[in-house]
Amino acid sequence: MSNNSFKVSDDKLGKTASFPLLEGTLGHPTVDIQNLNRDMGCFTYDPGFTSTASCKSDITYINGDEGILLYRGYPIDQLAEHSNFLEVAYLLMNGELPSKAEYEKFESEITWYSKIHEKLRGFIEGFHYDAHPMAMMVGVVGSLSAFYHSELDVNDPEHRRISALRMLAKMPIIAAACYKHSIGDPFVYPRADLGYCKNFLNMMFARPSERFFIDEREYLNPAAARALDLLFILHADHEQNASTSTVRLASSTGANPYACIAAGIAALWGPAHGGANEAVLSMLAEIGDIKRVPEFIKRAKDKDDPFRLMGFGHRVYKNFDPRATIIRRTCHELLEKQASKDPLFELALGLEEVALKDSYFIERKLYPNVDFYSGIIYKALNIPVDMFTVMFTIARTAGWVSHWLELMADPSKRIGRPRQLYTGKPRRDYIATDRRG
Ligand code: CMC
Repeated sequence: MSNNSFKVSDDKLGKTASFPLLEGTLGHPTVDIQNLNRDMGCFTYDPGFTSTASCKSDITYINGDEGILLYRGYPIDQLAEHSNFLEVAYLLMNGELPSKAEYEKFESEITWYSKIHEKLRGFIEGFHYDAHPMAMMVGVVGSLSAFYHSELDVNDPEHRRISALRMLAKMPIIAAACYKHSIGDPFVYPRADLGYCKNFLNMMFARPSERFFIDEREYLNPAAARALDLLFILHADHEQNASTSTVRLASSTGANPYACIAAGIAALWGPAHGGANEAVLSMLAEIGDIKRVPEFIKRAKDKDDPFRLMGFGHRVYKNFDPRATIIRRTCHELLEKQASKDPLFELALGLEEVALKDSYFIERKLYPNVDFYSGIIYKALNIPVDMFTVMFTIARTAGWVSHWLELMADPSKRIGRPRQLYTGKPRRDYIATDRRG
């Protein structure tokens, strides 16, 4: 951190003050305005946090102009090519890649915690069969806090480590159980002999009563597991996005970690964030035919129409989303192996081509983001559309728990408590009348 300072002077307030200008390892310098109110008697106004750093973090770095995404310093394309999701999760949580022995221990601990209390199934079964799986995820993950609360000491680093492992291990089981509940199938128990992704595919698609008719090699094929692993790596963390910030804000109060992750799941569900992958597929289905692309592009540009091109634009990336570049390539590879072309992918490519040439999208630097393509891969893996955001949840848990671990170990942590610019009525007196009859 440098010792530079940032000077602020205001004639109306009649005050001048200087504030530390902090320099991170990479990225823009950041003005430390913690004493702005004390020194200048004013607050800052930044709806949507477009210029506000809410914390210091060592986990992930994004440069939106240059399309750079680093996990603990490692470029996302290198991790996507050489790593796997569990190794990336270890890296995010611990700061360094594991040695062989550390990886084996981590994997066996994840396998150990890959079970849920039988009573938790009662929560899942309490939902109506047509409940949206994200609604179930919010409720069921939140209810984990009822199972792990009284003996959990969030001030103990080992308790925190185990909570993070449990979260990562149980998320795919809960996700698959929600799916099985929605189709009325029996719950499939996790298998210790399968890796993280294959285990998930097995819990989703195995049908024990039909095991003589369905060849498990169909849904446990290595290409499917690898495609899933890649998507999980790409979605594992994305610095202070809306859901991670939600997890941090909830955690800053010292709340139960499982309840904090449930808060993150709720934030992820929205179509502006993780819900975009489901929204992209719904949008492509609505467009239906390449001939209708101009009509939808016109609607996306019309300020009186709430329609937006889902999977386009990003708060941080203003050039390209490096995750989208990787995933677009994977879409091509995966779909080329399929006997027939996926008309939705063809339509997505057509839509992308028209939008990228349109001055509206060029001027606003709106490019396809990761979720423009992720749904197409999930669809190729036979994951139902309403499970797409649930898939994002499994992956992002690695990031959420890493940020939770970082925050809880930070000696300078304080409860998150933003200020506001009050625009309501000034003080007024209550006049007693007989309005309540
Ligand atoms: N379609 C049409 N116009 C758009 C779009 C879009 N997808 N995205 C932004 N714009 C326009 C917006 O109307 C505004 O225009 P103007 O300057 O004329 O008022 C301008 O571009 C800037 O948009 P903004 O809403 O101020 O940008 P933001 O940073 O607040 O929002 C966003 C970012 C991702 C929420 C937004 O681009 C969006 O809604 N995209 C579609 C949803 C989506 O794909 N979300 C997934 C994001 S990636 C996954 C993740 O990490 O969560």
